[in-house]
Order: sequence, then C-alpha cells, then structure tokens
Amino acid sequence: MTATSSCPTASQAAPVNLVIFGATGDLAMRKIFPALASLCQNGLLSHDTRILAVGRTDLSADEYSNLLGEKLAQAIPPSCLADLVPRIRYLRLDPDEPESGYTLSMALGDLDRETPKNRLFYLAVPPSAYIPLATMLGEAGLGRESEDTSVRIVVEKPFGRDLATARELDTVLHRYFKERQIFRIDHYMAKETVQNVLLLRFANALFEPVWNRRYIDHIRITAAETLGIGHRAGFYDQAGVLRDMFQNHMMMLLSLCAMEPPSIFEAELVRDERSKVFRALRPLDLERLDEQLILGQYGPGMSGGEAVPGYLQEPGVRPDSITPTFAWLKVYLDNWRWQGVPFHLCSGKRLEAKHTEITVQFKSVPVSMFRKSRDEVIPPNRLVIGIHPDEVVRLEVQTKGQGSQLCLQGQSMEFSYGAGSGLGRLDDYAKVLLDCITGDQTLFWRQDAVELCWGFLTPILDRCDCPDSELPLHTYVAGGPGPKAAQRAG
Ligand code: BG6
Repeated sequence: MTATSSCPTASQAAPVNLVIFGATGDLAMRKIFPALASLCQNGLLSHDTRILAVGRTDLSADEYSNLLGEKLAQAIPPSCLADLVPRIRYLRLDPDEPESGYTLSMALGDLDRETPKNRLFYLAVPPSAYIPLATMLGEAGLGRESEDTSVRIVVEKPFGRDLATARELDTVLHRYFKERQIFRIDHYMAKETVQNVLLLRFANALFEPVWNRRYIDHIRITAAETLGIGHRAGFYDQAGVLRDMFQNHMMMLLSLCAMEPPSIFEAELVRDERSKVFRALRPLDLERLDEQLILGQYGPGMSGGEAVPGYLQEPGVRPDSITPTFAWLKVYLDNWRWQGVPFHLCSGKRLEAKHTEITVQFKSVPVSMFRKSRDEVIPPNRLVIGIHPDEVVRLEVQTKGQGSQLCLQGQSMEFSYGAGSGLGRLDDYAKVLLDCITGDQTLFWRQDAVELCWGFLTPILDRCDCPDSELPLHTYVAGGPGPKAAQRAG
C-alpha cells in the first residue's frame, strides 16, 4: 500500500519553564529527558525553554550534570545532550520542609528574570507524593496563572488506587488547579498506531458502516509483555495488572475502538465521547465473576533463553502474595452500537512474546455457498491493528486459491507503519510532553473518565484484593502463553 500524503511536522512550542520533580529518578532518566532530547533534536523545543530538575538528593550543579551524562549516554546522542544540559538547573528540595514552596518560587523567579514564561510542573514521583507536592505548589501560589502565562501540572497514572483515592487526589488537584491545567498522562495514547484507530475508523467510509453489533462478533485487545516486574515490586505488589494496565491503557484502547465520532476533532469533544463509552460499561456480575474474569500469576520459567523466577520469588514480593500479573476480562457495553458484542481485554507479564494489538473479528458469512464443493466453514474476516512490535493494519480476507479446484485461501491486505519514512515521528513520551507544553489535552485522561473506570473496576478489585476471595488465581509458566483457562476463553 502506498502513502498518499505526508504529515506536516509540528511547529516549535512556546518557551516554557519545565519543573521536573523526581529528577534523579527512573522515569525522568528513562523517559522524560530522552523525550526532551528528541524534541530538541527535532527543533520543537524553544531555545528559551529552561528545565528545573528537582530532587531530594543534595547534588551540586556539576554532580547533577555528571549524573545526567552517565544515565543518558546510551539514550541520547552527545550533540543533543550538549544542547540540553546547559538549559537544566538542579534544585535540591524536600517538599516536607515548610519553606520548600518559597524556595521553589525563588528558583522559578530567577528563571523568569528575563521574560515570564509558561510553567509546567511534571510530577515524575511515586503516586504517594502527588498530594504533598500539589499541596506545596498550591499553597505557594504556584498554581495561579497570569493573563499572559499558563501553569500546567502533569501527573502519571496510577491516578489513585480505587475510586475513593482517585477522588481524594482529584479534590486536592482541583483545590489549586483547574481541570484544563491538569494533564493526566497515558503514554499508550501517544503511540502512533493507537491514534490511528480513530483515523482508520472516521477518515474512511469503508469501516464505519460495519463497525457495530450487526457485523462485529467480538473485539480483542491484547497487551502481552515478556518482562516481569523488574525492580518495581514495591509498586506492583500493591497494584497488580488490573490497576497497572487495565484501569488506564486497556480502557483507553477500548474507548477508541468503541466511541462514537465527535462532530469535530477537538479535545473536549473527543474526551466526551470516550467518557460515554465508560458510562456504558455493564457492571460485572460479581456472583458469576469467573465467567468474565480470569486472573493469573507467573511461576518460574524461561524468558529470552534464560531461567527466570516466578512472581513470588521476585525480590520484594510478599511470599504469599495474591497479586495478579495476568488478567483476561470480558466486558460489554450497554448501548445501541455494541449491545451483545463482547470485548476481550487481555494483558499479562512474563508471556511468550511482547505484543500489543487490537483484533476486530467480524461475523461469519450467514451460509457458505461453497459447502457442496469444498469448504464447509469460511473463516471470518478480521481487522488487526498491530501496535507493538508490528505497527500494522491488516485485513484478513478469503480469496480463491490458485488452481483448477475451487478452494478458499486466506489472504492479508496489510499496511505497515514501520515501512513509512518516519519523518516527523516522535516517540510516545516526546509526543505527550509536547502536548503538555502546547496545552492540547486530547490524548489525556479527564477526571470523569478516570472515575468511571475506577467505578467499574473497584468492585472487582475489592474481590481480587481479598485473601478469602473464591476467585481462582491461575499460575502460569513464565515465558509461556498464559493461563490455560484464558486460552480456552478466547
Ligand atoms: C506501564 C506499566 O504503564 O506500561 C508497565 O506500568 C508496563 O507495567 C508498561 O510494562 C507497558 O508499556 P509499553 O509501552 O511497553 O507497552
């Protein structure tokens, strides 16, 4: 398939004072600084943008520059690092100290001395630090915007650990910031092929007429990982796969597959439509939960040719932990378009391959007119939207196999993103960071959607968290296909 037009590249964002809390941490080093470097490299970061890297560790400017050099050497080309580092200033700050808000205001005042700039506060810290930091910013008056400059705050999922804590976090954020100032990041939304779901659906007349309960049998959304929990036991053992992957990424993918077209592609209208999907989620029947939910936990096995420990043997995991690392969940949406169509959501760690994809399975033809000659059963059409590692859109159809006999042959019509020029392409974090700087909220979670998803999942989580729950937790071999029960379920 050939591309018929190329995308204009984004233009340079207005200068900003970017404050990164957690600036010595994993998220900042692995994702945020490389994303900034990528913006820099693509000419999208203004020369006047300044970065205030904030951490609790006592480091001199030189020590912090050395740390950056050391941690980012692999991820960022040296020329890019040389461009970025002079714009970064390190500030040691302990938000628990009463004068921390004042210290931060002074540091920002220094950065603003030439011209006041927009401000962006990025909370790259553990979720338990969101409320204290938002409070510190708010109490120091740093949430207030002026006529000419904006103030934005960025938080990463998880937004709470259930409905009550999500609301608690939101109350504090809203005490000091307006909804339009709050950017709740879901990096899945910045993936090219994820965004492509809406383009594919709503920029083609071909798919939409069949995109409903009449023609679609089911939709399957898979996010399988080969990695285990790494060094994240502290977080993961409290969260599990439902909080880590379902409340956010999987729900977001579901909403893109199921939403109605907004009248125009604008942040609030798109977000309205996504929320309507979550509002239509049919509550699970808790008495028959095992028909719609299969949970698993990986045992020891082989991954990438190496023996790997089971979840319970991972350092930092409670030896009797019942935290699921795998889930298969069947959900229904109670609305006209989707009544009766199951959505199978499946995600797990330590599976045999890393792959993220959406499969739309259409209904079978009503009857096979070829049944007398050869084929009794005609496989249904499928539209596969590959997100990782293959960024493809593949339509699986039936054709005539070559030869004198009448026989069916499955064929794929495929478009591969990877084969494109990649010009102007930004990685996930660079894209969302640019949107935070320019103030485009289309790809971010709005609080009503967060609460609707927690409202749906919290009763299930209460069951899963309960040691006396009768829900089975299936052990699966690391590096394998996942629990057998889930493979049977589809
Ligand atoms: C994160 C989860 O949000 O997404 C991780 O916390 C998970 O546990 C990761 O590994 C998966 O992201 P990706 O982009 O690699 O599919």
